[in-house]
Amino acid sequence: MKRVDDFRLRLGSHELVPIMVGGMGVDISTAELSLEAARLGGIGHISDAMVPTVSDRRFNTKYVKNKLKQYKFNVANSDKSVVQFDLGLLAEATAMHVGRTMEAKRGPGLVFINCMEKLTMNSPKETLRVRLQAAMDNGIDGITLAAGLHLGSFALIQDHPRFNDVKLGIIVSSLRALQLFLKKNARTGRLPDYVVVEGPLAGGHLGFGMDWAQYDLATITAEIRDWLKAEQLDIPLIPAGGIFTGSDAVNFLEAGAAAVQVATRFTVTTECGLPEDVQQEYFKASEDQIEVNGISPTGYPMRMLKSSPAIGSGIRPNCEAFGYLLDAKGNCQYIDAYNREVAAHPEDAKIKVWDKTCLCTHMRNFDCWTCGHYTYRLKDTTRQNADGSYQILSAEHVFHDYQYSTDNKIALPSAPAAV
Ligand SMILES: Cc1cc2nc3c(=O)[nH]c(=O)nc-3n(C[C@H](O)[C@H](O)[C@H](O)COP(=O)(O)O)c2cc1C
Repeated sequence: MKRVDDFRLRLGSHELVPIMVGGMGVDISTAELSLEAARLGGIGHISDAMVPTVSDRRFNTKYVKNKLKQYKFNVANSDKSVVQFDLGLLAEATAMHVGRTMEAKRGPGLVFINCMEKLTMNSPKETLRVRLQAAMDNGIDGITLAAGLHLGSFALIQDHPRFNDVKLGIIVSSLRALQLFLKKNARTGRLPDYVVVEGPLAGGHLGFGMDWAQYDLATITAEIRDWLKAEQLDIPLIPAGGIFTGSDAVNFLEAGAAAVQVATRFTVTTECGLPEDVQQEYFKASEDQIEVNGISPTGYPMRMLKSSPAIGSGIRPNCEAFGYLLDAKGNCQYIDAYNREVAAHPEDAKIKVWDKTCLCTHMRNFDCWTCGHYTYRLKDTTRQNADGSYQILSAEHVFHDYQYSTDNKIALPSAPAAV
């Protein structure tokens, strides 16, 4: 009976344990989590979502406060087009986040950054270019381009001295999306070093419509694998979404995948950025408490716990402080939804907005409890404490369980020492 450890992922000169911990914004896949994956010989991801905000929390900088001060005059205005990010400060924050993570890296694995195109930041091209370049300047091992089609993203960095040295990957959810990317990207003369195939059971935003349940990761992965073979393109495929046990991973590796990307099982580890009370909500969740809804202003469906405080919250848009989802014209779907509700309920001091959410604020505050489909199985991966809460795991424990388990078994952590 095979186990994940019988396989290796080859990326250039690197030979890795074929486990990649997926990016989880906003600072849910922390530097600490990514460093553990790298120390253990796999690949970890930090996320570049809302890095100035993350930097304030981690390094005591004042990016958010200063940006709010600069644009305070605009808070009551629904036109947010003046609210621009300072590109120099954005580069500085990214340099700090990436640089400090890479300085701390130990072991044979790699640390990548998950970069979401849908973080349009009121100036999509320029802010993305700065984020990518600053990550490369500060030693990131690889960049996974996520949430969006990224058709022009390689071109934004093709003059960078590390363009051919840094590992570049994309996330797709269909063969069509991959074909489109390869076609548009052909003029850079650079193929992706790996392709993450993300199926409908993943956490975060989905690359499917509300008909997500009709799709299946194994089928999409096989379709892409066969097409790449027919085209004689040798690009490692990394399926993601609902791979919950080491045996699930082995099934994909035996079917030709080069590695697997996993995330949900790591949401309940000490190294993960979610506060412990939120981790307990993940443990407690039952299947019917998890939904895919349309409240993200990005327009992509998103999976989350129905009890997320973000759902229905009618807070005033916080674009002067954050503003990561403002499009090229300074619009965000939440601003429209919020203004509509304010106009409909002029007397109310507190309003509710159900169809969209202020994702920046709620992700920043860990109030949008996005999660993978199998979150309801997390309680089976640990022990319950005497007070009914669940034991938080170490990332090493979860990583090793994926690496060494067989027979669909999940190893429980050792019981805490009696006091
Ligand atoms: C809490 C959470 C947050 C996530 N955030 C992101 C993100 O910011 N960007 C992204 O590309 N994928 C994100 N994902 C998707 C994961 O990186 C990964 O591909 C997927 O969840 C793997 O499936 P699994 O969770 O069933 O293991 C997130 C997943 C979770 C569980």
